[in-house]
Amino acid sequence: MISELEYKSRRDALAKKLKSYSVGVMFSATHKTRSNDTEYPYRQNSNFYYLTGFKEANSCLMIVKKKSKVKTVLFVEKKDETKELWTGKRLGEVEAKKRFLVDEVYIVDEFEKKFKKYLEKKQTLYFDFKLDYSKVKTLKRYSKNLYTHKNIALLLQEMRLIKSDSEIKLIKKAITITKDAHHKAIKFKKTDKKEYELQALIEHTFKTNGAYSDAYTSIVACGNSANTLHYVDNDKKLVDGELILIDAGCEYKYYASDITRTIPVNGKFSEAQIELYNMVLDVQVQIIKMIKPHAKRSELQKKSEELLCDGMIKLGILKGKRKKLLKKNAHKKYYPHGIGHWMGLDVHDEAPYKDKKEKEIPFMSGMVLTIEPAIYCDKDDKTIPKKYRGIGIRIEDDILVTKNGFENLSFEIAKSVEEVEKLYSSL
Ligand code: GLY
Ligand code: MN
Ligand code: MN
Repeated sequence: MISELEYKSRRDALAKKLKSYSVGVMFSATHKTRSNDTEYPYRQNSNFYYLTGFKEANSCLMIVKKKSKVKTVLFVEKKDETKELWTGKRLGEVEAKKRFLVDEVYIVDEFEKKFKKYLEKKQTLYFDFKLDYSKVKTLKRYSKNLYTHKNIALLLQEMRLIKSDSEIKLIKKAITITKDAHHKAIKFKKTDKKEYELQALIEHTFKTNGAYSDAYTSIVACGNSANTLHYVDNDKKLVDGELILIDAGCEYKYYASDITRTIPVNGKFSEAQIELYNMVLDVQVQIIKMIKPHAKRSELQKKSEELLCDGMIKLGILKGKRKKLLKKNAHKKYYPHGIGHWMGLDVHDEAPYKDKKEKEIPFMSGMVLTIEPAIYCDKDDKTIPKKYRGIGIRIEDDILVTKNGFENLSFEIAKSVEEVEKLYSSL
């Protein structure tokens, strides 16, 4: 649980970052049409949620800063019996005033009037530059060229980089639920079932454990499908003798988990699969050990490329000397992505990798990132040993940077060949 006091302290911290004489606005997410009059499931904008913990659509937070005096204003939807009959209860401005530790609450219909009023003489307007066009048009109509426009999201990204204890608790809970889902997937007798049946089992486990949603579209990729990095078709058969790459994590109270395991359909790895799997796993273990305050993601990236390149040479996937191969980027054909990313309210958390001077931000205690080395061997790649063709392996864990090093938050999820095989044959 994140307390109202914590949300208030976030708004206060944001207000401190705003220039004197400015207005900052942050809108809720808008509904997205799926087709005709159906909509995708609604999910609150992460930045708005970070500042308010409020899930309703059509709401807005405004921070008005005079010299150093700050006023926080929340706009919510008006109570409306008829509309609530169709789309559900709204909190309304009376209850909102009781719940949120803000200075003023109004119904959203008053937004333009209040915006105009507060904008007077204010010289900087902050808003999220990713806003949809109609909202930007409204903001610009009133703020014209008299004001400097700045991206409020950049300030929030800095704040979201370091997680509080209560955020870490929620991430841990998300990972615990995801562990249960991956373990169920490992144990499931799945030969000849469809990828989406396994996906259903995973997502059913999320929901029965209190996680309403996934944190991203689950990837359940059998055999060669694993070589498509963001494969989401999930409609093929689970074939005896092949591996399945499962990249799936739930979202718990808006916080993500992001876990990949690559497991055998029939519960037993073949020799060739073990060779590739252990090569990637060794790299992952070594890279995780490098995580500590002041270390940098680019160092982990470089090391992961070197180690994977060594592994590819050893297994006959690449031929030649490491230095030359790295220089030619030959290894990138089989490991084309990053070693990991920040994770939090978003699976790819909207937090910066570089500071304002374009200098890389080193790790600090309280950051959360994924570590996900991989190797992708396409079935049609005739340059690699035949036994590896059609296998894609990625192994991904979620890591917290601590004062003295790291904590692997997902260490309990079965990972070694022995653990995975043992779990499959357990009851
Ligand atoms: N699940 C997407 C990723 O691993 O980045
Ligand atoms: Mn990831
Ligand atoms: Mn992932």
